[in-house]
Amino acid sequence: MNLIFLGPPGAGKGTHAVRLAHELGIPQISTGDMLRQHVRRQTALGVEAARYMDAGKLVPDDVIIGMVRERLQQPDCAKGYVFDGFPRTLAQAEALSTFADIHAVVNLLAGDDVIIRRLSGRRVCPACNGTFHVRYLKDPAICPDCGGALVQRADDAEETVLNRLTVYHRQTEPLIAYYRQLGLLRDVDSAGEVDANYLDIKKALNLA
Ligand code: AP5
Repeated sequence: MNLIFLGPPGAGKGTHAVRLAHELGIPQISTGDMLRQHVRRQTALGVEAARYMDAGKLVPDDVIIGMVRERLQQPDCAKGYVFDGFPRTLAQAEALSTFADIHAVVNLLAGDDVIIRRLSGRRVCPACNGTFHVRYLKDPAICPDCGGALVQRADDAEETVLNRLTVYHRQTEPLIAYYRQLGLLRDVDSAGEVDANYLDIKKALNLA
């Protein structure tokens, strides 16, 4: 099964894509995570990407499309994959259609007010790549999965979140109509609690 998770920043794409991919035994492919790895390793791609990411802008399409095309050639993608945060522009979606067959697109719906609340409370674990919210943590500084130190993502600063939302509405939202027209879109309200949302996603995909 080849799936896409679409939605604004903080809609829960990462949270649910990781869980579903694990359950289906297929990889979750997050272009955001791939870019952050390049930034950490200070590769040429990472140095270029950081300028866009820190400002809440999208990294250029040709960089992203090349990165994804290469990733799909890895053997673990043979049985399927879950895209998280890709595609994000019409150019990316059109390029993807030339080298992959997508079976369904989960469109996570959450208003800007919910997004701002969520991202200001998000903490991530650089050691195990976990994503959490301070509301659900006993200790907001310690990863409940591996005991590592939790940090706030640089692009979760309020001003950058507002930029990311503007970019989402302008550049990514048109993909909703694109995939709806192809009959692939599954709308899921993601404003509620995590487990209830996850069940709704599985139902939308006929997996529950
Ligand atoms: P990326 O890492 O993809 O960030 P994003 O799309 O902005 O999405 P987020 O990771 O912020 O949110 P999410 O929807 O995954 O939510 P999460 O599950 O964490 O991209 C970062 C940057 O990289 C971009 O700005 C851009 O510069 C660049 N980039 C990446 N891909 C690109 C591309 N294709 N093209 C060009 N540039 C690209 O959840 C958020 C929080 O909510 C968590 O704390 C979670 O615990 C909490 N939460 C509360 N309730 C719920 C619930 N019901 N469901 C899920 N989570 C919940």
